[in-house]
Amino acid sequence: ASSHITLNNGRQMPVVGLGTWQAAPGVVGAAVDAAVRGGYRHIDCAYAYFNEKEVGDALQKLFKEGVVKREDLWITSKLWNDHHGPEEPFKCLETTLTNLQLEYLDLYLIHWPVPLNKGYTWPLQPHMFDTTRSIKEDTKETWQAMEKIAESGKARSIGVSNFSAKKLEDMMEYAKVVPAVNQVECHPMWRQDKLRAYMKTHNIHLSAYSPLGTWGTSGVKINLLDHPLLTKIGEKYGRTPAQVSLRWGVQMGNSVLPKSTKAERVKENLQVSDFSLSDEDMSELEKLEQTRFLQGTFWVNDSGSFYKKAEDLWDGEG
Ligand code: A2P
Repeated sequence: ASSHITLNNGRQMPVVGLGTWQAAPGVVGAAVDAAVRGGYRHIDCAYAYFNEKEVGDALQKLFKEGVVKREDLWITSKLWNDHHGPEEPFKCLETTLTNLQLEYLDLYLIHWPVPLNKGYTWPLQPHMFDTTRSIKEDTKETWQAMEKIAESGKARSIGVSNFSAKKLEDMMEYAKVVPAVNQVECHPMWRQDKLRAYMKTHNIHLSAYSPLGTWGTSGVKINLLDHPLLTKIGEKYGRTPAQVSLRWGVQMGNSVLPKSTKAERVKENLQVSDFSLSDEDMSELEKLEQTRFLQGTFWVNDSGSFYKKAEDLWDGEG
């Protein structure tokens, strides 16, 4: 596999990116610094991670020291849920660009198909949901703003995150720009076969968040990296379970966004282009029981949200 993915608009995205969700201010800057010095060229950010200022400071330092040039990096960020609509996405993008101290993003994503009233994140209560429009209408208005953002050059590619095949299909009725990426949970225990198959028909790239199983996130009950099959396969190649999990993702055609704030792990997670899993390893991994680790239950609320049950958020697609 190559170290880059070609998106449906012809742009080349580095296949391994550093995840920055739950990387606390105070440590995320050091992680970005170690990552870029260690060879990462792709950083995955979001307004709602509330650490973009520190990521931006780390990038500035790297530019000033001549470690890397802006044009050699791929920087993704995400539109927060309280900035959906025809105009608001521009404001959220401006905040992100100010914090990251950049002129443009390589990729800008709608973070969730969930409109919230201004100023809200979680923990959620019913009054925080913006129920003035349907999800379909909200996504249409928001996507049309994203298309203008792409036209303006402030984001070179645009896409979505946490979208089901059904929601992508709805977008095809009006999208002038087909999303380049849908960033979703994906790892050997959540393969996303159906979604992947749908996305393939429109050449939408699957970018995998939580590619290591996001152990430590609240509500996550299984430690993927403890699975004996990952250890067993890793031993054949002298690799760690984390590297097996990431390599699996790369061979599935995904880009992978492992998060770590530990320099050794950051380094380890990039070393996945110099070995291959055999077809037998891939089919053994295919037998793993499938579970969505991140249910998105924080968007589920039976008095305020569009989503009364987790199945509604994912449109019943597993
Ligand atoms: P830490 O940041 O302390 O290194 P995901 O990317 O799937 O969300 O997983 C992130 C979790 O996995 C974090 O708890 C992170 O902890 C841990 N992690 C990241 N890289 C590795 C690795 N190479 N080996 C073991 N655990 C890792």
